[in-house]
Amino acid sequence: MTDKINELLKVVEQFQTDSWDEAEEFRIRLLSKKGQISLLFNDFKSLPPDEKREVGQQLNTLKEAALQKVNQIKQRLEEEIIKSQGSDKYPDLSLPAEFHHTGSRHPISIVRNQINSIFEKIGFVISEGPEIEDDWHNFSALNFADEHPARDMQDTFFVEKNPDIALRTHTSSVQVRVMKNQKPPIRTISPGRVFRNEAISARAHCIFHQVEGLYIDKDVSFADLKHVLNHFAQEFFGKESRIRLRPSYFPFTEPSAEMDVSCPFCKGKGCNICKGTGWVEIMGCGMVDPNVLENCGIDSTVYSGYAFGMGIERITMLKYMVNDLRLYFENDMRFLKQFSSAH
Ligand code: PHE
Repeated sequence: MTDKINELLKVVEQFQTDSWDEAEEFRIRLLSKKGQISLLFNDFKSLPPDEKREVGQQLNTLKEAALQKVNQIKQRLEEEIIKSQGSDKYPDLSLPAEFHHTGSRHPISIVRNQINSIFEKIGFVISEGPEIEDDWHNFSALNFADEHPARDMQDTFFVEKNPDIALRTHTSSVQVRVMKNQKPPIRTISPGRVFRNEAISARAHCIFHQVEGLYIDKDVSFADLKHVLNHFAQEFFGKESRIRLRPSYFPFTEPSAEMDVSCPFCKGKGCNICKGTGWVEIMGCGMVDPNVLENCGIDSTVYSGYAFGMGIERITMLKYMVNDLRLYFENDMRFLKQFSSAH
């Protein structure tokens, strides 16, 4: 029996494998109920008492050695599996949860939504229209003269060299569509992307965004326009904001004006953002030219209206002190992440 034990001890010492299944087979062959070692324990029972002590010790040593061997191999294989397959198969449940970055809104969207909501609260309805427009909606209906320079290739992107189809240069084209399709009273704002053929720099881009507003009813006056613009400035830039209107010219409004807001940075004292003037220009506006109303089928002897239009990039610049227009279009994560707490 001692020979048998020694023989098995050698087998145990020499056994080595990289296979989990072979290690398990080995355990069954030696240590299971009907395994070789278990059978030796059965034989042990019928040994004469004087041999029992020594053989008993040998048997226990053998059993211990076999158990240790199997456990060592299995532990090594387990570690190797974890290393090669990563923690997916054996996740460490005690690890703190992985941090997920939630996306953030683009600054242009944040400001557009704020502008929309200010006007929606006072009864303006959002209207949208196509980015590819025909000449009539973008220019002719809006009283642009045939030879107006904005119709030039240098200012406008034409689609497939067709002089009648272009990328809209302002969202006033959407308001033409609204006037054609609805009866006054009309109270609408048109946010959207517009295109102009400009060289790209920190201060100009060929794509930008606007929100334009239109209000048409009986007896609408310039005072109504002023009141609404003042309300917008105070809602957007703060109650202490002031506005001023300077005479200007647009083909589709008469009279026309540019609106300045008191500089939100220096509160009108003068700084390098407002170039020392205390004012920054933020939009164009005016009373809708009667020709435009007539072009869109609205009786200009009964109705009058006002319109205004602002560039979202410019207002976003003032809000977040972004001094390069190109940043809005490059989608650099380092830039966008700075807006994750805004909404
Ligand atoms: N459409 C003008 C522009 O794009 C802005 C504007 C709108 C001016 C309405 C006056 C009235 O610059």
